[in-house]
Amino acid sequence: MVNVNERFSVEGKNVIITGSSQGIGRETAEQFAHEGANVVVTSRSQETIEEVADGINDSDAPGRAIAVECDVRERESVEALVEATVEEFGSVDSMINNAGASFMAGFDDISENGWKTIVDINLHGTFHGAQVAGQQMQEQDDGGTIINFASVAGTEGSQYMSHYGAAKAAVVNLTASLSANYAPHDIRVNCIAPGLVGTAGVASQMGINPADVDREDIDKEMGLPAEIADLTQFLASEASSYIVGETITAQGVPPLEDSNI
Ligand SMILES: NC(=O)c1ccc[n+]([C@@H]2O[C@H](COP(=O)([O-])OP(=O)(O)OC[C@H]3O[C@@H](n4cnc5c(N)ncnc54)[C@H](OP(=O)(O)O)[C@@H]3O)[C@@H](O)[C@H]2O)c1
Repeated sequence: MVNVNERFSVEGKNVIITGSSQGIGRETAEQFAHEGANVVVTSRSQETIEEVADGINDSDAPGRAIAVECDVRERESVEALVEATVEEFGSVDSMINNAGASFMAGFDDISENGWKTIVDINLHGTFHGAQVAGQQMQEQDDGGTIINFASVAGTEGSQYMSHYGAAKAAVVNLTASLSANYAPHDIRVNCIAPGLVGTAGVASQMGINPADVDREDIDKEMGLPAEIADLTQFLASEASSYIVGETITAQGVPPLEDSNI
């Protein structure tokens, strides 16, 4: 008889979550550690990721956390992240390419530099994370999971974030191609496309004070970071073993009027 709880478990897995200083990434790191995974908390802000990792290590979470600074736009930085993970935990079992960024602007107001920055973080960052971690997993020869982050902006388009939408659409496509490359190595690649989720990142894009994001002023139509963390855990666990190369949308009841994210 199959133990269902075990199938959904991430206990004992060594997991990198890019962009885990705040928002969905932070929630995911905390949840995974409470579920018994060892987590690598990483972003460009050393001080913040140390706070997050210390918070996990000081809690009753059975999993351990380390903080490793990384800019996903730089391949060497991602290589150092994977190296540090292997040095500390011995392997990379799951790579969650969650780091992302955007700003709102009409198409004609997007500068060359703004366009390239958003494509760099969202698309090249995912390429670096997937390839560097994927090669490490192939070396380990014990399978693994890679979870990319797209957006409904990438599946449906976005009037005020065309740069971001284009980069996220490419992440959806990359997920499908990558999954075909990595399936023979038992590395499952999938992608999550959230709708509007109440995080500090979204708040600043929408001009809301990030301090208000902790629910009270958030419209009920926004998802919670924990709801995305649950889906991420499912995709990192054996419970999703027959799901490969998919982009799963999580956006509550569509359409979310005026969200356009
Ligand atoms: N929240 C939503 O409504 C929503 C909707 C659709 C898709 N998404 C996607 O879901 C993911 C998480 O979203 P979120 O709202 O939780 O984001 P968020 O609150 O804005 O946090 C973004 C995270 O990414 C990190 N980051 C940004 N640029 C980076 C870089 N170059 N290198 C490394 N880390 C970098 C940030 O840390 P530092 O600044 O410290 O580096 C931060 O930890 C993103 O991929 C986002 O595009 C979110």
